[in-house]
Amino acid sequence: MSIEQDKYILSVEGLGVSYGDFVAVKDVGFNVLHGEIFGLLGPNGAGKTSTLSSIEGLLKYKTGTIIVDGQDVQQKPLHAKASMGVQLQSTSFQPELNVTQILQLFSGIYGVPMSKDKIKEVLKEISLEEHGRKKFGQLSGGQQQRVSLVISTIHNPKLVLLDEPTTGLDPQSRRQLWERIEAFREKGHAVLLTTHSMEEAEAICDRIAIIDHGRVIAVDTPQALIDKHKNDPEVIAVSRRGKVTLEDVFIALTGKAVRE
Ligand SMILES: Nc1ncnc2c1ncn2[C@@H]1O[C@H](COP(=O)(O)OP(=O)(O)OP(=O)(O)O)[C@@H](O)[C@H]1O
Ligand SMILES: [Mg+2]
Repeated sequence: MSIEQDKYILSVEGLGVSYGDFVAVKDVGFNVLHGEIFGLLGPNGAGKTSTLSSIEGLLKYKTGTIIVDGQDVQQKPLHAKASMGVQLQSTSFQPELNVTQILQLFSGIYGVPMSKDKIKEVLKEISLEEHGRKKFGQLSGGQQQRVSLVISTIHNPKLVLLDEPTTGLDPQSRRQLWERIEAFREKGHAVLLTTHSMEEAEAICDRIAIIDHGRVIAVDTPQALIDKHKNDPEVIAVSRRGKVTLEDVFIALTGKAVRE
């Protein structure tokens, strides 16, 4: 591992993903530092999930290199996967299993089996102590989301990947999730998340990349992006209440058109 790579828990370089003839991701590159919260922002269809799936080893990419914790994702998939915790855009655990059974199953798969007491403790932590015997399919969206987050971090991964973790959550649950994500950072874990919420990006992300039409068009801290673009005529033109926001910059950079 080079000194440069050692700085990063994740390096993505020249990533290209195609579905048949359609090129969804073209030459995407960015680095995530150890212990930072990094946000991937972009309009619908920009290529965020395709990028995440490539990192997670769920999608075979055509070109480029992805290194997680010093391991090449395609050459050393098991080593790379051991460093990652993954929460997908929509979760589909076996809906007929109850929450306790799902926790038992996945802790076993990850090689960190949980005692009954430990399971109770985990359920309490995610405010589901009364729901251990409920089937996963019967939980509300927010409750399912809490279970899937706990499962993605069972093996204490250095890098946690979350695809739209707060979509569909009420404000209380969203704030609570932000706190959980920040707690990962405090413990030294890095987080790569996607979001459509500019508020979220500003509230918790140390740095963000804006991706559009399969390309990274900007990488920086949210504040630095605002400062850099706040006087651009296109940004001022879309700004609504005088004060330039990250959303104004995002819309100016990615255009006003709604994606197909
Ligand atoms: N399995 C697939 N087969 C064909 N095309 C796909 C497939 N998955 C994604 N795409 C296309 O690739 C492009 C990128 O999709 P992707 O899911 O990566 O976008 P995204 O940025 O995650 O969008 P969203 O914000 O809506 O979740 C889109 O045009 C999508 O239609
Ligand atoms: Mg997506």
